[in-house]
Amino acid sequence: MKSPGLLSLIITTLFAGLIVFTGAAAPSEPGDFTSDQFSKSGICSNCHGSSFGEWDGSMHSNADSDFFYQATLQEYGVAAEAQGLSPDFCSRCHTPIGVVSAEIPPLDGSHLSEVSKEGVQCDFCHSVAESEGIGNAPFVLEPGDVKWGNRPDTESASHETEAHEFYNESAYCGMCHNIYHPVNNLTLGATYTEWEESPYAEEGVNCQACHMTPGIIGFEENPGKAASTGPEREHVYTHHFVGANAFVTDVMGENRHEKRAIEYLQHAAELEVNAPDSTGPGESVEVEIKITNVGAGHKIPTGVTEDREMWLELTVNDSEGRELYHSGALDSAGKIDSGATIYHTVFADSGGKPTVKLWEAESILSDNRIGPKGSVVEKHSFVMPENASNPISTKAVLHYRSAPQEHIDKLFGEGAYNVPVIDMATYPEEEKTSTPGFGITGAIIALSLRITLRRRKK
Ligand code: HEC
Ligand code: HEC
Ligand code: HEC
Ligand code: HEC
Ligand code: HEC
Repeated sequence: MKSPGLLSLIITTLFAGLIVFTGAAAPSEPGDFTSDQFSKSGICSNCHGSSFGEWDGSMHSNADSDFFYQATLQEYGVAAEAQGLSPDFCSRCHTPIGVVSAEIPPLDGSHLSEVSKEGVQCDFCHSVAESEGIGNAPFVLEPGDVKWGNRPDTESASHETEAHEFYNESAYCGMCHNIYHPVNNLTLGATYTEWEESPYAEEGVNCQACHMTPGIIGFEENPGKAASTGPEREHVYTHHFVGANAFVTDVMGENRHEKRAIEYLQHAAELEVNAPDSTGPGESVEVEIKITNVGAGHKIPTGVTEDREMWLELTVNDSEGRELYHSGALDSAGKIDSGATIYHTVFADSGGKPTVKLWEAESILSDNRIGPKGSVVEKHSFVMPENASNPISTKAVLHYRSAPQEHIDKLFGEGAYNVPVIDMATYPEEEKTSTPGFGITGAIIALSLRITLRRRKK
């Protein structure tokens, strides 16, 4: 009679052992912590002033305060309540501390503590002990004395450190940089997967190499100190986390990050143009433009791209400066000419209609983005007018905009914000105003002059 009890005890013990052994922990849940278990970033800044200065003003530091995110979140809140969707879905990536300390919902942020409002911040990122996979933020947190990182030889009087190779892997970023629909599992954004399937993954060039070092298109050493009280190091990882956001950074006055975003965009693509320089009247002129993604370790554009716009503007003039052909121009309302190809993802709702509301997405209507080291060729043609004079000249510009002007006007009211148009690449190539790497103020100032801010005529 005793043995079944003993057997079940042994089995239970074995199971418990197995669970401990495999280290299977569930992702941190709302209510697992209180926000006062996390330190505000200003505390870390006492010894990690450089990391703080780099992170401060980044889209990670503004992940919750981002007004564009907030407006979309409020729309989601209404839909979530009506359809019974998870109220904390968005916030898990945009204010992770707010979620695990059950300060969200309400989605209006009225319960958020100061540390939760810091978005994706120091102590959150350095308390991730483990991840349960890729996408939708499956982090396992252990806030407290131990700050996790990737250096096996650190010593700090202020906190313990623990080295975890994971911090130097793209999978770390992949926790949040792959986004799946909370109900139907549709892929809404997959920067991690785009990278994983690219030549960069094979070459061992991870997210950190391009986004946490001065090198934009690969690893670049950054000698210095990781802590003011620590030793000199051959390389210290940087924390700018810059990508392509020159809109929200501009409006929020984060000018250092805005300038870097422009520089990132200007390292991502190259144009090659095949066009005749003279032709006879009445003849058809063919222009081919090849766009190559030379610098991004993922597609361009990447992330949730239903709102992002990348497109080519092509102008052909005759020798007298008369315009023979023009495609990809903006109209007076800031709308892109309907003849141009816009590179991004278009989602469809349950009725098959295009939607920019992520939570309504049920399928992908189209996705024409350009893969890492991949290219596309655009073909344009027109007929040479009788009165045109040779030679003819061709100009091509690859533009990027964070969101359609229309969508921003709808969210915030007409005239509230001008979404800047960034020139990613031009043909013929403009004089090089930049050298790779940061720190050359002159180059950065010169670059900022190249932003094309389209004033809208009322
Ligand atoms: C009193 C000074 C001090 C404060 C405050 C401090 N640290 Fe540190 N920290 C250090 C020193 C010193 C090192 C070791 C640097 C080295 O070895 O190069 C270090 C190392 C680290 C590392 C590197 C670990 C690794 O393996 O790469 C991380 C991550 C870290 N700190 C995070 C934090 C965070 C997050 C905060 C705020 C919650 C913080 N620190 C506050 C002094 C401090
Ligand atoms: C998005 C998550 C994230 C945020 C936010 C973040 N870090 Fe880090 N940090 C990392 C990762 C990942 C590494 C390791 C990079 C590697 O080894 O490839 C790192 C490395 C470090 C290091 C060691 C640098 C070195 O090379 O020795 C320190 C110190 C540090 N972080 C402190 C901070 C402080 C202070 C803040 C806030 C101002 C902060 N981190 C914000 C993810 C983050
Ligand atoms: C907790 C989730 C989370 C983790 C982990 C995370 N990110 Fe992010 N990241 C975000 C969110 C949310 C945003 C967008 C905030 C916004 O635009 O409102 C973002 C934005 C960015 C941007 C875009 C900035 C721009 O200018 O467009 C870059 C680049 C970036 N992250 C890189 C990284 C890298 C590299 C890592 C890994 C070291 C990482 N992130 C880890 C959540 C995360
Ligand atoms: C070879 C360098 C390189 C690698 C590797 C790389 N990136 Fe990027 N990333 C760029 C460049 C250049 C841009 C700017 C052009 C663009 O938007 O794609 C960028 C842009 C971004 C953006 C901004 C997108 C937007 O529209 O706001 C995010 C987010 C981002 N990267 C995250 C990541 C993550 C996460 C990884 C790893 C899975 C990664 N990157 C790997 C170079 C790289
Ligand atoms: C799994 C993590 C994750 C979830 C969940 C998530 N986001 Fe994000 N969000 C990001 C990252 C990473 C970026 C920046 C890179 C990019 O453009 O995709 C971002 C960018 C955005 C942007 C663009 C901000 C800008 O300044 O350009 C908006 C708006 C946004 N998210 C709204 C939402 C809303 C609303 C939800 C919920 C329906 C949501 N997000 C859910 C990770 C997430």
